[in-house]
Amino acid sequence: MIGIAYRLINSVITLVEQSEIALCRMSAPLRFDGRVVLVTGAGGGLGREYALAFAERGASVVVNDLGGSTKGEGRSTSAADKVVDEIRAKGGKAVANYDSVEDGERLIQTALDAFGRIDILVNNAGILRDRSFPRTSDLDWDLIHRIHLRASFMVTRAAWNHMKNQKFGRIIMTSSAAGIYGNFGQANYSAAKLGVLGLANVLAIEGRKYNIHCNTIAPTAGSRLTKEVLPPDLVESFKAEYVAPVVLWLCHESCKENGSVFEVGAGWIGKLRWERTQGRIVRKKNEPMTPEAVQEKWEEICDFENAVKPQNIQDSVGILVDVLAKIDKEQDVSANKTSAFAYKHSDINPDQAIGKVLPKMNFTYSSIQSILYALGVGMSTKEPDHLKFLYERHEEFSCFPTFGVIPSQASMMNGGLSDIPGLQIDMSRLLHGEQYLELYRPLPTSGTLTSQTTVVDILDKGSGAVILLDVHTYDGENLLCYNQYSLFIVGAGGFGGKRTSEKAKGTVKPPNRAPDAVVTDVTSQDQAALYRLSGDWNPLHIDPNFAAMAGFDKPILHGLCSFGYAARHVLKQYADNDILKFKAIKVRFMKPVIPGQSLQTEMWQEGSRIHFQMKVKETNQIVLGDSYVDLCDVPVTSPSKKQQKALQSDLIFAEIGRRIKDVGKELVKKVNAVFQWEITKDGITASQWTIDLKNGSGSLYKGLAQNKADVTFSLSDEDFMEVVHGKLNPQKAFFAGKLKVKGNIMLSQKLETILKDYAKL
Ligand code: NAI
Repeated sequence: MIGIAYRLINSVITLVEQSEIALCRMSAPLRFDGRVVLVTGAGGGLGREYALAFAERGASVVVNDLGGSTKGEGRSTSAADKVVDEIRAKGGKAVANYDSVEDGERLIQTALDAFGRIDILVNNAGILRDRSFPRTSDLDWDLIHRIHLRASFMVTRAAWNHMKNQKFGRIIMTSSAAGIYGNFGQANYSAAKLGVLGLANVLAIEGRKYNIHCNTIAPTAGSRLTKEVLPPDLVESFKAEYVAPVVLWLCHESCKENGSVFEVGAGWIGKLRWERTQGRIVRKKNEPMTPEAVQEKWEEICDFENAVKPQNIQDSVGILVDVLAKIDKEQDVSANKTSAFAYKHSDINPDQAIGKVLPKMNFTYSSIQSILYALGVGMSTKEPDHLKFLYERHEEFSCFPTFGVIPSQASMMNGGLSDIPGLQIDMSRLLHGEQYLELYRPLPTSGTLTSQTTVVDILDKGSGAVILLDVHTYDGENLLCYNQYSLFIVGAGGFGGKRTSEKAKGTVKPPNRAPDAVVTDVTSQDQAALYRLSGDWNPLHIDPNFAAMAGFDKPILHGLCSFGYAARHVLKQYADNDILKFKAIKVRFMKPVIPGQSLQTEMWQEGSRIHFQMKVKETNQIVLGDSYVDLCDVPVTSPSKKQQKALQSDLIFAEIGRRIKDVGKELVKKVNAVFQWEITKDGITASQWTIDLKNGSGSLYKGLAQNKADVTFSLSDEDFMEVVHGKLNPQKAFFAGKLKVKGNIMLSQKLETILKDYAKL
């Protein structure tokens, strides 16, 4: 007896404890204060319930209802008015709209007129005109399509740009189990309701980048629509208030759900998704495909064992591309049940793949490709020393060293990487993680090069797999360059492999001091469009829709384009653009760059190794990190040595600063421009100054211009002093290549106004 009492007390305690835990886990109430919601068909049934629930939680609600019959006949204002009165009686905010949902613009206008915005749209209004299929009239078909499908389009389109501009929108589409599964007598309704789901699928994709989410529900609730079809006790039990909470959650700003479909009713919510059998290939290479072959494999085609769950259109098309390759290789086309063709995102087996060598691939190019590449990585005729990479008749016409990635990439991509056994990778999940390039001799400006790719290692990083590929590129017999690609395959990890590899060319952190030199360059809006002509055709870099699908606002720049920029900056800063000094480069790709952004390379010299990182100047985000270039035979300037050498120009700038304090206002009036200076010492940038004679009463500061500089002058400390002392005419210095000018060159005429008084210093 005591034992029973003890157990009873214990279970009560457990229950109390559990409910306390449950209480602790309860989240803050979901509020909609400041949000404006439009619920269509809110004069009764489910819509009324949504409207009341949103208003109760602080939203301003537009209650739309035409007030007609269930068949779509007649109209009245009373349905909407009643719900508005109910909301207002409880202290909520609501206005009525009596238009048909087909007049989408007018519904949205009511929201804008009454509350100034539209945040949430619940497409709910609906009617029924059930008939067995052969008795369905044109009117039965058209009216149902107009009210359910076309009106959902009309109202949503009217709301779309407002949501897009404010970067927030939540849309609910109302489908039906009849549409998903079919129901006798509802051909018109089922077709329209599944059409609504198709519409929602696309809106979810197109809206994602604007924080517009679109989800679909297939509700079941007792209402005037269902009271004809459901038994009376179920009409009573399936309350509309059991559907409203999921609609509110899906419309809350904190809900990340997008593009999903839910069945909901009686207090239960389930999520739906597609499932596909593994399928079978029923065609053989060079043989016609026959219905008999389909018949023979029918059972296997329809067998849901080990079914896959495709999630997007890439999953749908991707398998077909794989099928083509498999048929071509006559793989897996036998009727052998045990070798059923299976499609997974990525299927990695290191034991099978490591050491595999792809067939040798030839890459033929002319001087046009060399020049296109140079343009692609930002070379410009504005820079006199870029001409040797841009002009095929230049006496030193050269191929820029990082062009070495181009033939290797072509070989890797075309050499059948995804056909390697144990290396079935879904290319849409591939990220370029790191890149190493080493040059053994200068690249010819044209020719035919041969490359060979080897899978050297595969690492398991948990969240993904890293594939290390070595590519050796030859000019005839001569080894020209070596690339190592480090490719990250998202979601392909967890196969129990090792995490590191002694074969990996590692990245190295830069020294812990301020950079020794900084070079900034602006990419053009068309930089990716230009770079892709060197052979990287991934639509991510040109097609806005494709970029949006990948989650980017705009097409992004190729990582290997920023890589080329960085190499250019280092080679110019430390090797006077001498390609013979280039030995190797290693980068880690950290973040994407949007064409048009400014790239800022921060460099540190440690002997012949130049450590660098590249930032996007506008966002200050590191895009290439822990990177380095190894040079051959460069004069070594240790930072400590550099610091010892005081710059004469510093004194002049200090004096200019003092003068600006005195007569800055006057100078701003006369000059009205921002000047940036890059002063070099022994061939490297030693200091940077900005003279702002455009804003306020003028200012001078060390470092690059905080806002855009109108003109940038680069010259050595010595030449700067010569100019200041009037011994070197700026124009002459420019033509002699001693003074480099970027930006508005005409402003150099105003230099005298700034510098003339300092000759005496
Ligand atoms: P209901 O008939 O109670 O509510 C629909 C409302 O839409 C009515 O107040 C009606 O006046 C309004 N409406 C009809 N045509 C309109 C138009 N042209 N313009 C403006 N308002 C219009 O029906 P219920 O059950 O609340 O249905 C709501 C939605 O849920 C409908 O889209 C329906 O197809 C869908 N649904 C409902 C199910 C259920 O079990 N109740 C099952 C599956 C889907």
